[in-house]
Amino acid sequence: MKTILTGIRVNSELTLGNFLGALLPMTRLANKYSDEYNINIFVADLHTIIAEQDGGLQHNLLMLIKMYLAAGLKVNDNVHIYRQSYVPATSEMTWILNCVATMGELGRMIQYKEKGRGEDSCNVGIFDYPVLMATDILLFDGNYIPVGQDQFQHIELTRDIAIRVNHRYGEIFTVPEKTSEQAKFMGSNDGIRIRDLVNPEKKMSKSAKAENSKIMMTDDPEKVAKKIMSATTDSLGEIDFDLKKRPGISNLLQIEALVNDRPLDEVVAEWKGKSNYGDLKKKVAESVSTMLADFQARLAKITDEEVYELMETGEKYANKLANAKLLKLQKAFELR
Ligand code: TYM
Repeated sequence: MKTILTGIRVNSELTLGNFLGALLPMTRLANKYSDEYNINIFVADLHTIIAEQDGGLQHNLLMLIKMYLAAGLKVNDNVHIYRQSYVPATSEMTWILNCVATMGELGRMIQYKEKGRGEDSCNVGIFDYPVLMATDILLFDGNYIPVGQDQFQHIELTRDIAIRVNHRYGEIFTVPEKTSEQAKFMGSNDGIRIRDLVNPEKKMSKSAKAENSKIMMTDDPEKVAKKIMSATTDSLGEIDFDLKKRPGISNLLQIEALVNDRPLDEVVAEWKGKSNYGDLKKKVAESVSTMLADFQARLAKITDEEVYELMETGEKYANKLANAKLLKLQKAFELR
């Protein structure tokens, strides 16, 4: 059986970018394919500790899984939910893959360049983060990895590492699909990137300082409407989808499409050429607020106990598979 797999860090509660870029696509794919694919959903708690946290790691971790359930994830025997650090083979395999990946490759990763800024004080975890991510994927032979566009470079690196190991030691890893195929599988042309509402040149990020830049999934719907109404647009005076010239308006069109699960082309055709940006903002604010009100009502009903039970079951499954894969790699490296 093929595997669809994704992880999310829990440095804070989630933004609308995390939700639309990864959590919702994963939930939709899981519900569509969980009879024929393994679905692995994990909390990237080891990736979380590379940076400061806001709100408490354990609190955010429970919230993350609750958010999948509130988004409508249906759990059956093929859906596996686990915490990354509860699968110790992850750390062990990361070390081995550290001896495969190169400084040059990791130094070219955009996230490292942005987060580490080449400073001596940058922790080694930030530099090594893509190898840990490659391990998460290769441990479980992940084929499809629903992530936002910002993670595509890490998937390409994962492919390179897998191909290199297989070339040297025989067929050890499944090579995940190319990012162009990943995007298609998620139903997008080139991956999803939700923009910062104040500065739409940048992606919407948990770590943005300005409150109006990002929508948190726990924001109350009125606050969300205000943030969307004040989003930066442009002075061209005509709605169209053009990420270069009109990143703010294009972002709103994309949000409108994703929240309502409608094709982007269809939404763009509906608004193209219109001049009243306010009408579009009002419509997007209404779509997001309605979605969040329902989502938050469902979220409030999910208990911690429910989440712990799912994670403990998932971790038994994950450890079995991960230990077998690790042993295969250890044997290839003559460690066993
Ligand atoms: P993280 O926690 O930074 O982000 C979680 C997911 O949200 C997506 N995302 C976005 N998508 C669209 N627009 C945005 N503005 C936006 N911001 C964030 C990210 O692309 C991601 O899919 N390294 C990963 C976690 C991870 C992982 C893995 C993912 C660890 N191991 C293995 C897949 C497979 C990360 O830090 O994502």
